[in-house]
Amino acid sequence: MVVDSTHRLARWQRFWDKQAAGYDKHMTLLDRVLFRDTRSWICSRARGQVLEVAVGTGLNLEHYPAGTSLTGIELSPDMLAQAHTRAADVRPDARLAPGDAHALDFPDASFDTVVCTFSLCAIPATDIALAEMSRVLRPGGTLLLADHVASSIRPVRWIQRALELVSIPIGGEHFLRRPSIAITGDESFSIEDIDRFTLGLVERLHARKVF
Ligand SMILES: C[S@@+](CC[C@H](N)C(=O)[O-])C[C@H]1O[C@@H](n2cnc3c(N)ncnc32)[C@H](O)[C@@H]1O
Repeated sequence: MVVDSTHRLARWQRFWDKQAAGYDKHMTLLDRVLFRDTRSWICSRARGQVLEVAVGTGLNLEHYPAGTSLTGIELSPDMLAQAHTRAADVRPDARLAPGDAHALDFPDASFDTVVCTFSLCAIPATDIALAEMSRVLRPGGTLLLADHVASSIRPVRWIQRALELVSIPIGGEHFLRRPSIAITGDESFSIEDIDRFTLGLVERLHARKVF
C-alpha cells in the first residue's frame, strides 16, 4: 500500500482537529465500557526512551511509569494542543510534536519502547506505520499496541463491515483491521503477551524486537 497523498492526510488532520474538543469525553466512555484497563496495561510495560505514535490528546500520559522519557507525535494540531495542556499537569517532561506515523522523524533504533493505542484503526497505511515503528525501535526494544479490531464473532464482524461503509469515507476509521497479525507473522518480533476481549473487539499486544 502506498502512503496517502498529502491531500488525504490533510483531510484526516482536519477531521481529527474537529474531533479534538469532544474527544476525551467520548474516549473516556469507550475506555470504561470497551477497553477496560488497556491504557495502564500498555503504559506500565514501557521502559526507557518511549515514543508514542499518534498521541492524540495524551490520555496515556499519566499512565507511564516514572523513569520513562516520553516523546509523542501527532498528526492533528488541535489534538496535540490538548496533549500539551494535559502534559503540563501530568508529564511536563514529555516532548510532544507534530508528526506523521508514515514517516517518523527519528533515526533508526532510537527508542527502547514504541507505543500506539487506538490509532492504527485510523492511520491510513498500517503496514508503513508499523514498519516505521519497527525501524525506530532498537533491537531488544518493546512494541506495545492496542486497538479495536475485527471481532472474533462473525455477526459482530457483519456489523463492523456495515459501520465501515460510513466510517471510512467520513473519518478514515477502520473496524476490520487487526494489526497484531503483521507482528505475530514477523520473525523480527517475539510476542511477550497478547490479549483479546470484549466480543473479540479489542486487542492489545506486547512484543519484543528480536533483531
Ligand atoms: C482515535 S485517536 C487515538 C489517540 C490516542 N492514541 C489515544 O489512545 O487516545 C487516533 C489519533 O491518530 C491520529 N492520527 C491519524 N493519522 C495519523 C498519522 N498519519 N500520523 C500521526 N497521527 C495520526 C489522529 O490525529 C488521532 O489523534
